[in-house]
Amino acid sequence: MCGITGFIGSDGAIQIALESLKRLEYRGYDSVGIAYPQNNHIAVVRATGNISRLHDRLGGDVPDVAVAIAHTRWATHGQPTEANAHPHQDCSGQIAVAHNGIIENYGPLRDELQRMGHRFSSETDTEVLPHLIEHYLHEAGDLVEAVRLSLRRVEGSYAVAVISTRYPGGVIVARKDSPLVIGLAEGSKLIASDIPAVLPYTKDVLILEDGDVVVVTPGAVILTDISGKTAHRSPTRVGWSIEEAEKGGYSHYMLKEIHEEPVAVRNALRGRIDNDRAILEGLTISPADWRRFQRVEIVACGTAYHAGLVGKRLMEQILRIPTEAVIASEFRYSDPLVDEKTLVLLISQSGETADTLAAMREAKQRGAYTLAIVNVMGSTLAREADGVIYTQAGPEIGVASTKAYLAQLAVIHLLAIHWAQQIDAPFLNDGVSRPLLVNELERLPDLIASALQGEPHIKSLADRLADRSCFIYLGRGYDFAAAMEAALKLKEISYIHAEAYAAGEMKHGPLALIEPGVVVIGLATQPTTNLKLWSNLKEVKARNGTVVVVHTEGESVPDGSDYQISIPPAPPSLMPAIALVPLQLLAYHIANARGCPIDQPRNLAKSVTVE
Ligand code: F6R
Repeated sequence: MCGITGFIGSDGAIQIALESLKRLEYRGYDSVGIAYPQNNHIAVVRATGNISRLHDRLGGDVPDVAVAIAHTRWATHGQPTEANAHPHQDCSGQIAVAHNGIIENYGPLRDELQRMGHRFSSETDTEVLPHLIEHYLHEAGDLVEAVRLSLRRVEGSYAVAVISTRYPGGVIVARKDSPLVIGLAEGSKLIASDIPAVLPYTKDVLILEDGDVVVVTPGAVILTDISGKTAHRSPTRVGWSIEEAEKGGYSHYMLKEIHEEPVAVRNALRGRIDNDRAILEGLTISPADWRRFQRVEIVACGTAYHAGLVGKRLMEQILRIPTEAVIASEFRYSDPLVDEKTLVLLISQSGETADTLAAMREAKQRGAYTLAIVNVMGSTLAREADGVIYTQAGPEIGVASTKAYLAQLAVIHLLAIHWAQQIDAPFLNDGVSRPLLVNELERLPDLIASALQGEPHIKSLADRLADRSCFIYLGRGYDFAAAMEAALKLKEISYIHAEAYAAGEMKHGPLALIEPGVVVIGLATQPTTNLKLWSNLKEVKARNGTVVVVHTEGESVPDGSDYQISIPPAPPSLMPAIALVPLQLLAYHIANARGCPIDQPRNLAKSVTVE
């Protein structure tokens, strides 16, 4: 959601800033712009649409400059027009600012600046920043101090990059609640909203923290806080290769990431299983603390929330501790019942989702212990939560979350098993003992690899169903949690209306939707409820709906189902991880057959850093 890049070196800044920006396209955007110091002024070029439109605007003869900042905008305040695209400038045209986040008090700031005579040319919240900096530059005489004074006036979130004719060889960057990293290459520096954008140039990055204000020049990075005090922080060496962050021959990141699922889950489990025990090193929770927790609240958004629904059932089954899964945007405004006896488990791929961060802060304030399951190293959630378990799934670029979901499920299992060990829980998991569950968890990467083998069958099924306009996913228990995620995958990338229901609810309303053409996908992977699910599917068939059944290998299927998808068997709590493999592939191939832009679905962004 919005992306900033920049290059600070000796030449080629525009090309490098735009190449880096392309690596952030997955975040979603609707306009784009670049700014660079040239001949004593700041040149700004902007365009609606994608980065190639900006290339057209720049023309064939791109100036060779040493410093540039670039931005992709995902519209929040004001339409996606050229005037609203970043970077934005002050009245004098000497300052340009690219910004991610939301300036909540931009209204009063804008009024105040207008009263002082500043002229605005966009509808954005961001434009107050260059004008504020211009104002404080007159007062303070120093650009960096003017940036600090301006940011102190701002309420809300920001990652900003500022260039000025006052400082033509460098860029000033700052962050609060919106990610930004600095790539530390030899003789040059890069700035970016996310690590993959700088990987072709360096693996050494400085991850900015809230309150940082940093002056970046080709040879130095001067780190201060918002009051001007110098700070020191060691850079991080990134473990991923550039290939890992790129498409690697697949037509879309999403397809690549689905095929990476066996490796992602293996990495999530690596070093965390010893014989039949789960080992979570780095958690500083004592056995007494584990016993202290009397409630668990799992808080997340979207796909991560769906992983939390699996976690709820698993934790209640094996820990016998009341557990709720709550959508983060609901949790934060619900006056939640959490205290020091509550463990609040936050799940997030990016670690930057605004609602999940706000929920974590709310829970902390109420005395709860906050534990985060996160994929992105050094992200805000990972740094601010009391404890963190990384999913280790590698970079996920496609907007639709796939491998991160499976890795989240693996880590949730590790956590529940680890916790059960700490408190000697009775471990009543559908009759599955702890050693058996641990062994099956270890086999999960192989079971996922085996489910991937079914792709040719899934593709031909997708070709047959791609023109349908209504899909209903049904399941009970763990299958219902999986159905929720499967429906989200289809709707977000194919734009087909898709809903998930607890199968037992069908007769209470949704059955009225069934008519010829409606596709009902029944997940039947749970031995205790499969027969009930079959009855629901028969009711659909009797009304001429099209029935697809996902079942475990060797299990019989209900009479009259139109299509079958068979997957390897495993203990009930692991079935969502296996069932989602063909259902992610089905969503992918349906969206592909419909010609949808799979990695950047309309209106969506990879990292949702605003409410
Ligand atoms: C759907 C999807 C979103 C995210 C949600 C939370 O495919 O990717 O629903 O799961 O925006 O994002 P994170 O996990 O980064 O907090």
